[in-house]
Amino acid sequence: MERKNIDWGSLGFGYVQTDYRYVSNYKDGAWDAGCLTDQATVTMSECACVLQYAQTCFEGMKAYTTQDGRIVCFRPDLNAKRMADSCRRLKMPVFPEDRFVEAVVETVRANAAWVPPFGSGASLYIRPFMFGSDAIIGVKPATEFQFRVFATPVGPYFKGGIKPLTVRISDFDRAAPRGTGHVKAGLNYAMSLYAIVDAHEQGYDENVYLDSATRTYIEETGGANIVFVKGNTLVTPKSSTILPSITRRSLVQVAKDYLGMEVEEREIPLTEIGEFTECGLCGTAAVISPVGKIVDHGKETVYAGFGPTIQKLYDTLTGIQMGRIPAPEGWIQVIE
Ligand code: PLP
Ligand code: COI
Repeated sequence: MERKNIDWGSLGFGYVQTDYRYVSNYKDGAWDAGCLTDQATVTMSECACVLQYAQTCFEGMKAYTTQDGRIVCFRPDLNAKRMADSCRRLKMPVFPEDRFVEAVVETVRANAAWVPPFGSGASLYIRPFMFGSDAIIGVKPATEFQFRVFATPVGPYFKGGIKPLTVRISDFDRAAPRGTGHVKAGLNYAMSLYAIVDAHEQGYDENVYLDSATRTYIEETGGANIVFVKGNTLVTPKSSTILPSITRRSLVQVAKDYLGMEVEEREIPLTEIGEFTECGLCGTAAVISPVGKIVDHGKETVYAGFGPTIQKLYDTLTGIQMGRIPAPEGWIQVIE
């Protein structure tokens, strides 16, 4: 396999069309056999449920080249499970979890030439997604759906690479109590677009959302969960309205089992953020991006950026993902 001739180190987080994607269609109550295709466009009714009522959900994961030249991906079974949860919440048919993992593996294998080399700082971002595809005009779920997986090589999510971020406490809310904040619905991101454009215009990298019921607790950002460090303890919000990040769940285990840290998953009042020494945003795209500053209406809380704990968490997690450090059982899916 000859790798594509790309300047991997200068990739940002953008879409690059790769050679193959996986497609399966749901009709008359069943998923078809599914296959790889080179067709990168989708044609459907102007009245498709996804276009009118945003019936869509997605996942995000990455494939890496390890030091010894294998291609692997990280905990795809958890993405399969989370997508199944999203589908149930959005009245979409679950794409069977074992088939989800197979579709991811097939897509990555077919695009092996697009997997960035070890040490390049880039990875292959994988985007499984599903949408309601038939014409629906009354407000109700679609009856036909498409599940797709594409892959695209990416670099760092935040502009400027991994320099410490400046984030703000948002005046907008992300997720309602008993809403869809805990699943990966496209609609959660549609409603964050106004807020992220506004944040960028004001010079911030991201929005930190508060719980919308009381606006007193830290929740997460538009595209990542948040973690804080206090002494030898990793502290991360517990809430029924945040996305259960696979990166965050993995970091919790890394902190406990690899770094000997204490972990607290609990409500974090906004008034507590000055008591932490380090802060990071974590997610597939964000990996662990250090936060340098949280700004709350002019009041600045400053953190160590790549402080010692965030650095250790970053090194250990990426070491596990890229095969430099032994992984817990079942975390690494070898693709080839
Ligand atoms: N929170 C939000 C809102 C996200 O979009 C993401 C990205 O997937 C995450 C958290 C991080 O989740 P994960 O670590 O599973 O990628
Ligand atoms: C991911 O990290 O995979 C996400 O889906 C976040 C998105 C904002 C790119």
